[in-house]
Amino acid sequence: MERGRAVAVAVAVAGLVWVAATVAAEPLPQYYNAIFSFGDSFSDTGNFVIINSGKLPNMPKFPPPYARCSNGRLVIDFLAEAFGLPLLPPSANKGTNFSQGANFAVMGATALDLKYFKDNNVWSIPPFNTSMSVQLQWFDEVKQTVCSSPQECREFFSKALFVFGEFGGNDYSFAWKADWSLEKVKTMVPRVVASMVGGIERLLDEGARHVVVPGNLPAGCIPITLTMYASDDRSEYDPRTGCLKKYNSVALYHNAMLRIALDQLQRRRPDSRIVYADYYTPYIQFARTPHLYGYKRGALRACCGGGGPYNYNMSASCGLPGATTCEDPDAHVSWDGIHLTEAPYRFIANTWIRGPYAHPPLASVVRDDMVY
Ligand SMILES: *[C@@H]1O[C@H](CO)[C@@H](O)[C@H](O)[C@H]1NC(C)=O
Ligand SMILES: *[C@@H]1O[C@H](CO)[C@@H](O)[C@H](O)[C@H]1NC(C)=O
Ligand SMILES: *[C@@H]1O[C@H](CO)[C@@H](O)[C@H](O)[C@H]1NC(C)=O
Repeated sequence: MERGRAVAVAVAVAGLVWVAATVAAEPLPQYYNAIFSFGDSFSDTGNFVIINSGKLPNMPKFPPPYARCSNGRLVIDFLAEAFGLPLLPPSANKGTNFSQGANFAVMGATALDLKYFKDNNVWSIPPFNTSMSVQLQWFDEVKQTVCSSPQECREFFSKALFVFGEFGGNDYSFAWKADWSLEKVKTMVPRVVASMVGGIERLLDEGARHVVVPGNLPAGCIPITLTMYASDDRSEYDPRTGCLKKYNSVALYHNAMLRIALDQLQRRRPDSRIVYADYYTPYIQFARTPHLYGYKRGALRACCGGGGPYNYNMSASCGLPGATTCEDPDAHVSWDGIHLTEAPYRFIANTWIRGPYAHPPLASVVRDDMVY
């Protein structure tokens, strides 16, 4: 029994080393001409800071490339590096040459339009108009600068990689904040997924062929959720991870429904390659066995924050007075109580490229296209 377990652990560790080793040893071919990214703060590489500079009191002063919600690079940065492209410029940086890609993602962005939240009395949303459909309008503007004739644009986008998400996490968190019940939050899921599929189809209609669609993170494992919705009832927590089950159940439902919708989309559009990219499973693995991945401080405690059991304090969150930053960010999964540190982002990016957490892995998508 014990021996079996030891072998399983050794295999898991060897797997990690293998992922790291192959990425270093065997660079991917420079296959894509550009990367276009859409989403929220998990992939924002500067838009929020540019859009709000001068408007909000606590905006950081530093310009891109530092304006990310992390201590370093995000998954989208590691994807760009792996494919031999420059880090994606934020689309709000007008006058930039976007011929190798643009990043439309903005912190706080939702899959649904502002109108949905207003109509449903969800007032906790920030006053930003940066939803998925707005990002697609920005894409139309950037398009004018990177290609001219419809033929030329289709050709150009057919050789680009599109990363569409993460979307939905903010939609659900605004609803939780407005005290919606689990049943009511779940009614949003089909709408969010349909909205995403509509957005992806718009890109396919522009000539996109390779689209990576990240699912939701396990919201119930994130320090802000664990702090805001802390419960005295131990049965609300998953004993294997310490995460709040209710918030994870919505993420799981979203991801399951998204995968079904993406499979259907793939069948409708056989010339495209639609990749589902999984944030959820690796994050749960970190939460179950953080030491196996090098996260000595665990998965549920933020590196940068203002105290409390998860080192998340709303009135002293990372960047505000009262917050401190840990000495060892690589030993933490969570950077600021919401977003991840660079170490897990690097790990997740590698698993999306080589497997096992993308379906199919990006390296095989590229390889298939080069063979045929
Ligand atoms: C934009 O960059 C591409 C290559 O990165 C280059 O070929 C092109 O000439 C540049 N366009 C402008 C307007 O500078
Ligand atoms: C949001 O922005 C888009 C495009 O920039 C605009 O068409 C729309 O009217 C705006 N919506 C609101 C609610 O401000
Ligand atoms: C949260 O931060 C505020 C402001 O710095 C502080 O007064 C409070 O004690 C902190 N709460 C915890 C639980 O650390």
